[in-house]
Amino acid sequence: MRSIAGQRVLLGVTGGIASYKTVSLARLLTQAGARVDVVMSRSAREFVGAVTFEALTGRPVHVDLIADGHALDHIRLAQDTDLVVVAPATADFIARAGQGRADDLLTAILLATRAPVLVAPAMNDQMWTHPQTASNVAHLRSLGYRVLDPAVGPLASADEGVGPGRMREPEEIFDAAVAAMATPSSLAGRTVVVTAGPTREAIDPVRFISNRSSGKMGVAVAKAAAARGAHVILIAGPLEVAVPSGVHVVRVESTAELEAAVRSALRGADALVMAAAPADFRPSSVAHQKIKKATAPPAIPLELSPDILASTRDARESGTVIVGFALETENLVANAQAKLAAKALDLVVANQAGETGSGFGSDTNRVTLIGRDGSVEALPLASKDSVACTIVDRVEQLLSGR
Ligand code: CTP
Repeated sequence: MRSIAGQRVLLGVTGGIASYKTVSLARLLTQAGARVDVVMSRSAREFVGAVTFEALTGRPVHVDLIADGHALDHIRLAQDTDLVVVAPATADFIARAGQGRADDLLTAILLATRAPVLVAPAMNDQMWTHPQTASNVAHLRSLGYRVLDPAVGPLASADEGVGPGRMREPEEIFDAAVAAMATPSSLAGRTVVVTAGPTREAIDPVRFISNRSSGKMGVAVAKAAAARGAHVILIAGPLEVAVPSGVHVVRVESTAELEAAVRSALRGADALVMAAAPADFRPSSVAHQKIKKATAPPAIPLELSPDILASTRDARESGTVIVGFALETENLVANAQAKLAAKALDLVVANQAGETGSGFGSDTNRVTLIGRDGSVEALPLASKDSVACTIVDRVEQLLSGR
């Protein structure tokens, strides 16, 4: 377990059935060496007793905004912490926090703190997908709060079915808390769209054309941006690696689906990092039934699929930082510079195809960063996580100039 010894965490608990899982979170944080102060809303105490948290954290639990002799508790608690985590966060809490209310201890602390804030919502799926909640969550993100999208899974009551609304598991919230304390929130309030992996173009119901992209590079970029507090939308084709927690994942299959997802995500995006390897060609028509060997055509006619960076240019907002990749077998810098100009990019991450330890499927990569300003920076062979950090550094620099 990673050490967060000596770090101060203020753990806010609001009234949801998922608060029983927050007990494990309090335990994980305490075991990792953090000093955990729990603040419970009145309704949270209907679900879990304060004494449970007191026993686990070894510290008193706070409930009231004005308790006898403690009129300024909210200011002291707000300032004496390295991180605020709210788990579970109910729809009502999210709405009140978004309005800047300060009528209970937890919302007052949110206004008075300058520490990063991590919010783990839990609610019924209909409540989570209601446009009002979506707008409240987007507002919290614009304020720099890190919101962990709930998972899809069985909800509290049997008749609620399976939908998005289930609070993230204690281990996932713990990981996000550690990341929030380890890295500066330099991208808090920013939305970064990352594409990753290959796409697939159907030939018939059982066959497709694709490429060897694993999605590792895009996933590494998504992770690095999320660790700095960005709201990350990861648009993913079929990946060989797990998606990181703390990012919003949109799954796609074909290049046309990827194009539509990028177009929609560009609305409100501060940056797009196009690490996906879309299939450039697709069958001109898709057979509705499995093609039988006996009647197979001698050739399958192909057509070009859309070039997404080019075709979604009209959907970019002014000031959005656009990063593309370039995979080349020859004339690396010149070809990448041509792509930068043709696709109106701010930065190209150029890869020499076929080099050992680099490119598709590998855990390491050797890239050259080529900027719109004419800069050419050849990076040494490094892990994809390390290359991702450098790419996100460049995105941050470009954003700060806008
Ligand atoms: N890209 C895209 N849409 C496609 C193909 C690629 O938006 N249909 C993006 C990739 O995600 C990458 C950049 O364009 O960021 C360059 O991809 P690359 O495969 O190197 O180049 P292509 O534009 O496909 O050109 P070519 O295959 O001729 O080198």
